[in-house]
Amino acid sequence: MNEMPAKESTGEASETFTLTDNRTGRSFQLPVQTGTDGPPVVDIRKLYAEAGIFTYDPGFTSTGSCESKITFIDGDRGVLHHRGYSIEDLAENSDFMEVCYLLLYGDLPNRDEKDTFENTITRHTMLHDQMAQFFRGFRRDAHPMAIMVGVVGAMSAFYHDSTDINDPHQRMVASHRLIAKMPTIAAMAYKYSIGQPFQYPRNDLKYAENFLNMTFAVPCEKYEISPTLSRAMDRIFILHADHEQNASTSTVRLAGSSGANPFACIAAGIASLWGPAHGGANEAVLNMLMEIGSVDRIPEYLDKAKDKDDPFRLMGFGHRVYKNHDPRAGVLRKSAHEVLDELGIENEPLLELARELERIALEDEYFAEKKLFPNVDFYSGIILRAMGFPTSMFTVLFALARTAGWIAQWKEMIEDPVQKIGRPRQLYTGPDLRSYTQLDQR
Ligand code: CMC
Repeated sequence: MNEMPAKESTGEASETFTLTDNRTGRSFQLPVQTGTDGPPVVDIRKLYAEAGIFTYDPGFTSTGSCESKITFIDGDRGVLHHRGYSIEDLAENSDFMEVCYLLLYGDLPNRDEKDTFENTITRHTMLHDQMAQFFRGFRRDAHPMAIMVGVVGAMSAFYHDSTDINDPHQRMVASHRLIAKMPTIAAMAYKYSIGQPFQYPRNDLKYAENFLNMTFAVPCEKYEISPTLSRAMDRIFILHADHEQNASTSTVRLAGSSGANPFACIAAGIASLWGPAHGGANEAVLNMLMEIGSVDRIPEYLDKAKDKDDPFRLMGFGHRVYKNHDPRAGVLRKSAHEVLDELGIENEPLLELARELERIALEDEYFAEKKLFPNVDFYSGIILRAMGFPTSMFTVLFALARTAGWIAQWKEMIEDPVQKIGRPRQLYTGPDLRSYTQLDQR
């Protein structure tokens, strides 16, 4: 177990990287910074000022946008660590509340710290009652992610006493509120879509139990919370809690870099997560498996995925960073059978189909050559479906869990003395200056 304190970045680099402009013959010495792990980074902050040149990196495949002490990923080795702890270790031994604490504060809590934190989160789970009006303004068939974007953004209008980003206390209260209220909002989005009454949070329940209760309980009968389900839910939350500078986290940081309030920033993150290339993939995986329907149709769909003229992609496969395996997928693959067994589902055809699809795809030259492996979304949908969630809720659950990471990353960004408003530049390829042509001459 890694108890090493995170390395302080001095902003000074002992090594340099030489860049030579072959057009002019001028050379520039760029500082190289080294982190605790991972490749070194070339500090190009003064590049434009000194060399009059920008870097061009669409999709930021070679760009480190910030310094962070929260999460480390090594995509080639299939490694994911939060504050030095491996995701496998956390999924096996920890719980989501501890992981939230770890992400926010940097270390695992001791017993007292854990109790205090859990108590604080529990006491923030209720929503301002007027917020229920927001839900009623949505169409019944609204996608729950659309509701999430709207309602989480609307928190800025209800919790004015935690929107001053310059006050550390208010930042912390906003962080607690977001982690605490996200399950309430998610469960209400679900209840609204199926026409059932909202269930208030219960302070006698643990985080995952409370969420399951608000989602599945109805006032007319007692809902027994299955320990198996709540443990599986908690584990899914852990596995989705943070993932370094992915699209939604970078969106949260970028939105926050202008000084926007945390509720608005998290709403921006939810919007970014929604896309099928990111958090929307878990919903897309299940839809894809249902469309494929049977093992004999797998080759047809693999051909579609390989066809450059066909927009179809094998959902739940591939990752920008992981080029060996996604460690979260490993944990979920194992969990899928365990959860289904414990739920008494002996034969889940979609799980069998998913396993067969994985086997055939991994043997396929195209997927091997492009280093495409199952990602976290490949198995999570099967587990969530078995637990009783409709596909439209899958990305909502991702957003709920990822809020812990988003808010920790947002807080780190605000507290980072070198943080500036995010403002990338571009390679302009539009028209050169031209004169306005009068309408009758066009
Ligand atoms: N099916 C078929 N081909 C694929 C797939 C796929 N799932 N993913 C990548 N490729 C091909 C792609 O066509 C490209 O081929 P070529 O080099 O011939 O043009 C090559 O592999 C590299 O792909 P890329 O799009 O340049 O890679 P990327 O790093 O920009 O994209 C990705 C990563 C996750 C967006 C992509 O793999 C994808 O769309 N996967 C399916 C959606 C998915 O499962 N997303 C969940 C990601 S994990 C959860 C999360 O973090 O949100």
